Amino acid sequence: MEKMKIGVVGCGLMGSGIAEVAIRTGYDTTVREMTPELLAKGQGRIEKSLQTAVERGKLAAAQRDEARARLRLTTSLEDLAGCDLVIEAATENPQLKKELFASLDRLCKPTAILASNTSSIPIIELASATKRQDRVVGIHFFNPVPVMKLVEVVRTIVSAEATVSAARAFAESLGKRPIVAKDRAGFVVNVLLVPYLLDAVRLLERGIATKEDIDEGMRLGCGHPMGPLQLLDFVGIDTTYYIAEIMFDEFKDPHYAAPTLLKQMTIAGLHGRKTGRGFYDYPG
Ligand code: 3HC
Repeated sequence: MEKMKIGVVGCGLMGSGIAEVAIRTGYDTTVREMTPELLAKGQGRIEKSLQTAVERGKLAAAQRDEARARLRLTTSLEDLAGCDLVIEAATENPQLKKELFASLDRLCKPTAILASNTSSIPIIELASATKRQDRVVGIHFFNPVPVMKLVEVVRTIVSAEATVSAARAFAESLGKRPIVAKDRAGFVVNVLLVPYLLDAVRLLERGIATKEDIDEGMRLGCGHPMGPLQLLDFVGIDTTYYIAEIMFDEFKDPHYAAPTLLKQMTIAGLHGRKTGRGFYDYPG
């Protein structure tokens, strides 16, 4: 298992986290981003996280160096051709992801497993862009990837049992706890989490309480580590908006309809921590 070569498509918040846990576990990992600028940003995120782990005594400096040496960065999808498992963690855009799966299917060896870290898109839609539907599976991580223990493994109606087992084994090898879900938009966690987050935005829109009190309510009243608006800033306003759109499209249930405020914040670039401003400000 440790010998598998891992590919990660996308080096944003999730892709960089996935790459980091993979190299820390001992996997040779190639990460592909669209532009050198995005790649440099993702690499910076991995470096910073490795450094923090060293400073907090969770990783020896020598282990950090070994982990670094296992990381390859590229802007060329072709460089993933030799991988045994490719995890796509691109923007939550169904068309973009389908195109990526079609290209990966052409490039990668027939035995390679193609996985998506999508939060909400049914995996079968991505599998249908390939000629290896039995070797396509969902492997959904949670942010921050190095910290959150859960991985959702998503089994489509045509995923081979061996593919699902390999995905579970891979998640376990990273020290994660996999749960297996059927291939329905949002799987387990986002079906529960997204309506909750959207309802928090609706509370704010209606002036029921201030953002601080909404967050404090859930932190102190329910023991959540972050309130819902803090969590939205953390996950990304734009990401949550795209997830909500996809889930609303799938279920036609108003619970999943994105509130106007979320849409407008997405358009305005108030995407949360990553852009320095969302419901709260993040100077620097
Ligand atoms: N990378 C690595 N480690 C990190 C980290 C990061 N980005 N952020 C925090 N940590 C580690 C710290 O090193 C610290 O470890 P230690 O206790 O062993 O020293 C530990 O996590 C706690 O960190 P802090 O003390 O700095 O801060 P907090 O106690 O406030 O915890 C948090 C930060 C772990 C992010 C916590 O607030 C939390 O759990 N928030 C909720 C996160 C959540 O719900 N994520 C799921 C989002 S949904 C999702 O991702 C699905 C998608 O499809 C939408």
